Amino acid sequence: MEISGRTRVCCVIGDPIEHTLSPLMHNAAFKHLKLDLVYVAFRVRKEELENAVKGMCSLGIHGLNVTMPHKNAIIKYLDEVDSTAKFIGSVNTVLNNDGKLMGFNTDGLGALKALKENQVHLDGKKLLLLGAGGAARAIAFQLASEVEELRILNRDGEKAKQLAKALREKFNRKIVGDTLSASTIKEQLKDADILVNATSVGMHPNPEQTLVNREWLKPNMAVMDIVYNPVETRLLRDAKSVGAKVVYGTEMLVFQGAASFEIWFNRPAPVEVMRDAVLRSINEVNSSVEGAS
Ligand code: ATR
Repeated sequence: MEISGRTRVCCVIGDPIEHTLSPLMHNAAFKHLKLDLVYVAFRVRKEELENAVKGMCSLGIHGLNVTMPHKNAIIKYLDEVDSTAKFIGSVNTVLNNDGKLMGFNTDGLGALKALKENQVHLDGKKLLLLGAGGAARAIAFQLASEVEELRILNRDGEKAKQLAKALREKFNRKIVGDTLSASTIKEQLKDADILVNATSVGMHPNPEQTLVNREWLKPNMAVMDIVYNPVETRLLRDAKSVGAKVVYGTEMLVFQGAASFEIWFNRPAPVEVMRDAVLRSINEVNSSVEGAS
């Protein structure tokens, strides 16, 4: 990529940030579409967030992704926040619209697209969501109006109950929240059509962890994991082995990135190119780790 005086910049901020896949994914898209843009990652410490946001304006950075620990804290520094991000209480995408900073959250849209593009039908279905953290809130908000029934289980049961209550007030659906345990998961899975793990359980470096016993999974079910490293989590491996349909966390990652791209540039994102970049990078990292061990 030729960088010139005209090249515009997009970036991601977070702490830690070095393992982010967003630069790879977006630079692949820019290159494919021959856009004079570059995407970089900045480690921004908590106490530097306000300065970083002001810097974004001063430097004319066009688009920003936000990750931990800033997704909530950034809201107070933005000029406008869309209603979805407001409800979720977290922003992962900022558009610099001629100096006016507008915040969005594309995680829920990413999950919805990941399911739909993988032929998981939501209409009339019962969905069990594990987790009530930032990502889970985004997913719950986006999917609540698509499914017939939403059940939320979280280790901290109060968070699940509060989220369910807030969603019930907004959407005219059956939405319940409860404490996550082996028995509540087993019980709720009996007649669930779709299972989404939105907790961090199963993530590298604990890839063998799962909240769900393989025996509770059924062939006529769809299972999505938001964990994308490893690509095939223990949960998804188990789901596949019983004949369930699986949707990888990389799908949600790619579609939330694609949704950010579309907010910044108001044109369709090259999803295939972005997916290839993400999968290639994860495979390369994993094969180099295997090679070293
Ligand atoms: P993110 O932004 O990725 O959603 P988060 O807001 O920290 O991250 O949420 C992490 C989620 O994983 C939460 O639902 C958390 O449960 P608590 O709210 O009870 O903390 C869940 N989680 C993390 N580790 C877990 C574990 N070992 N067992 C069950 N749930 C876990």
